[in-house]
Amino acid sequence: MSTRDTLRDDSIACACTGLTVNQVRGLMAEKPGLDFDKLQDETGAGRKCTACLLDLELLYVDLSQRAAHPALKKADAAAVPDQPKSLKRRLYDLLDAIPILVPVHEPNFMPLIHGPGISSRLWLANFSLLYKGSPTPPDFAVNIRVRDSRGRVVLSEQRRLDTQTEIRLDASNVLPASESGETYSQRGISFGSIEVDRIADAPGVRGTTRPQVEFISPGSFSSLHTQGLGKTMNRRFSCYYRPDVERVFFTVISDAEEPRPVTLNVHEYTAQGPGPLLHTYEAIVSPRGTVALPLELDAGVQLPPDTILECHIQGAMGGKVHAACCAPDFSLLAFDHI
Ligand code: FES
Repeated sequence: MSTRDTLRDDSIACACTGLTVNQVRGLMAEKPGLDFDKLQDETGAGRKCTACLLDLELLYVDLSQRAAHPALKKADAAAVPDQPKSLKRRLYDLLDAIPILVPVHEPNFMPLIHGPGISSRLWLANFSLLYKGSPTPPDFAVNIRVRDSRGRVVLSEQRRLDTQTEIRLDASNVLPASESGETYSQRGISFGSIEVDRIADAPGVRGTTRPQVEFISPGSFSSLHTQGLGKTMNRRFSCYYRPDVERVFFTVISDAEEPRPVTLNVHEYTAQGPGPLLHTYEAIVSPRGTVALPLELDAGVQLPPDTILECHIQGAMGGKVHAACCAPDFSLLAFDHI
């Protein structure tokens, strides 16, 4: 959701409670000075799954500004005096005012995927957090490395990310075509990884510099923030088995300097723990390479609809595992950390 002129009155502001934008507007008109916490108390909005909380607060700030300054055309919370500050905003103000005492130096990683109609883009921004007028972080040097599935560096760039600037990079179009024998090669889909190393010029406040990778497929767009690598590789993930409508696979980024085996064991889930072993998939990850492990059961395995599976990914190295869910034809695609 975005505020300002894009919201319709019947837009849902909180899906859990069914609260609409118009109802929020009506409540705020009826009770001038209603603060954000009270709005939540009275409607229950933002108090269940909390997914709407940020958008709800933006809506609240937007409507408050419009009420106080009817001629206001552009959002600029910092420029409007005497606005009531929510508890959340006061907390962010406090956190944002605490500078990090040493320059940030943080390598982050993300898998990349590339194929027909599929690409992965890096996005980095160096803006203040959430509210206009907040202090901005220092300038950054950024080292970007893209590795193919075999761990070979296929792109290496050094960039500047000065305050109030951003970097966008088509990161996956440098990945070589899948090599025969690799998973998904028959569909022309390649995997790799991106490493983004941010080095601040000076100590400073937090900002928005955590890199995001946007995954674009013919019918969808999703994005995910990068993270550092873990020291071990032992992850579990449960999901429905619905091969007719969705395909799940896992990407493993290895931090090892030697080839390492990785295993995906798929069990039927039971309330008591992992049930019968249904499938094992084994692969070798190249040094600092990336491999995709498909969740595909043997043709003979018959499962009732919506059986829950428990997937266990293990390898003798550190690194990162992501789960991807896509349509069987890869027209829809999203990744998440596990
Ligand atoms: S969408 Fe508002 S609390 Fe869940």
